[in-house]
Amino acid sequence: MSAPDPQASLPALVCAGLRKSFGGTIAVDHVDLEVPRGSLTSLLGPSGCGKTTMLRMIAGLITPDSGRIDIDGRTVTGPRVSVPPERRNVGLVFQDYALFPHLSVGRNVAYGLGNLPRRQRAARVDEVLELVGLAGLSQRLPAALSGGQQQRVALARALAPSPDLVLLDEPFSNLDAALRATVREEVRGILHAAEATAIFVTHDQEEALSLTDRVAVMHAGRLHQVADPQTLYTKPTTRFVAEFVGEADVLPGRRAGQYLVDTPIGRLPTTEPVGSAAVAVMIRPESLRLRPRAQGVGEVVAISYFGHDQLVQVRLDNGFLLRARRGPRLDIERGDRVEVQVDGPVVAFDADDDPREIAPRERQEPAVLTAVS
Ligand SMILES: Nc1ncnc2c1ncn2[C@@H]1O[C@H](COP(=O)(O)OP(=O)(O)O)[C@@H](O)[C@H]1O
Ligand SMILES: [Mg+2]
Repeated sequence: MSAPDPQASLPALVCAGLRKSFGGTIAVDHVDLEVPRGSLTSLLGPSGCGKTTMLRMIAGLITPDSGRIDIDGRTVTGPRVSVPPERRNVGLVFQDYALFPHLSVGRNVAYGLGNLPRRQRAARVDEVLELVGLAGLSQRLPAALSGGQQQRVALARALAPSPDLVLLDEPFSNLDAALRATVREEVRGILHAAEATAIFVTHDQEEALSLTDRVAVMHAGRLHQVADPQTLYTKPTTRFVAEFVGEADVLPGRRAGQYLVDTPIGRLPTTEPVGSAAVAVMIRPESLRLRPRAQGVGEVVAISYFGHDQLVQVRLDNGFLLRARRGPRLDIERGDRVEVQVDGPVVAFDADDDPREIAPRERQEPAVLTAVS
C-alpha cells in the first residue's frame, strides 16, 4: 500500500477575498471560493454578476485588485505573486470555442503541447481526440465540423496538457436547444473520464443543477451560496438564491415560535429556527396544494397547461399572488375560489437580509388554457 498523498486533500482551487472593479463598477466583491479536486462546480448567476471576471482572474488573464488565488496548493495570484496564464496549468473553453480556423483539428488540439517531443505530442492528440469521440477527424478544419463537434475540439484542446483545472465559460450558449442537452451530457462524461476538476460558468439554473455536483451562486459580484443542487433548492440561504434557483413566491411573515411563522396563508412550520420578528417566507409552486372551496382564501386567476403539469395562479384576498404546480388533471377552473395548503416546512429569510419590499405582485403570465370540454 502506498503512503497517503499529502496533496490529495488539498482543494484544486482556493480563492480568498477576491475583488475586482472596473472604473466605478465592482465586478467581483470579496469572493471566497474553494473547489475540491475532481469536482465539477458551476458558477451560476445572472448576466453581469461577475462570472467571467472570476474565470479571467483564475486563469491569470486579469489581475484582481486584492485577494489570493491558489491552484493545487500553489499561490498563483497574491501580494507580490503573479504567475502568467501559460504557467498556471489551467485549460480554458470559451463560449465561441475560439478555435484557430486555419489549423486542422489535430493542430488545434496540439496547441498547448509545444514542449512535448513530436511523437509524444501526436500520441497525446490521438488520445484526447479519442476521449472526446473525434478519433479520425484530426485532419479536418474546424469549419467542416458541426457546432457540437467544434465544442468537443475546444474541450480536447483544453484537456490535452492535463490541466489542474478546466474553466468553461458558458460553453453551450452557442448551441441550439435540441443539441445543448446532448452536448452537455457528453461534456460531463468527458470531464469525468478525464478525472478533471472543472468550473463551469452558466446563467441557466437548470443547466447548473442538472450538470454539476456543486453550484456556486453569484449576484452583483458577491457569492451567495455554494452547495449541492438539492441543498441549494431546498435550503437557499438568501432570498436571491431562492428566487433565482427554481420558481419561488415570497410572502411576508412574522415569527410565531422558534420554528413557526405567521403568513397570509396561515401559520407554517419552518426548516430552520426563525431569526428575526419580520421574515420573508419562500413558497415553491410544487409545495402548494389547492382545494376548491367557496370560503377559500383566494381565487384562481390563470392556468397555464403544459400537459405533464400545469401552473395555477391564485390571487389571495389580500392581493398576494401564489403559483401552484399541479399534475395534468384539470380539476380546478379559472374563477374558482380555493383553499391553499403548503406541503412540508418552509424557508424563512430575515427580511432585512434583502431590502426589497414584499408587496403583492401583478399577474406575470397570461392564461394559456382555461376551458376544457
Ligand atoms: N473589461 C471591462 N471593463 C469594464 N467593465 C467590465 C469589464 N469586464 C467586465 N465589466 C463589468 O463587470 C461586471 C461583471 O461582468 P462579467 O464578469 O462579464 O459578468 P458575467 O460574466 O457574469 O456576465 C459587469 O457590470 C461588466 O459590465
Ligand atoms: Mg460572462
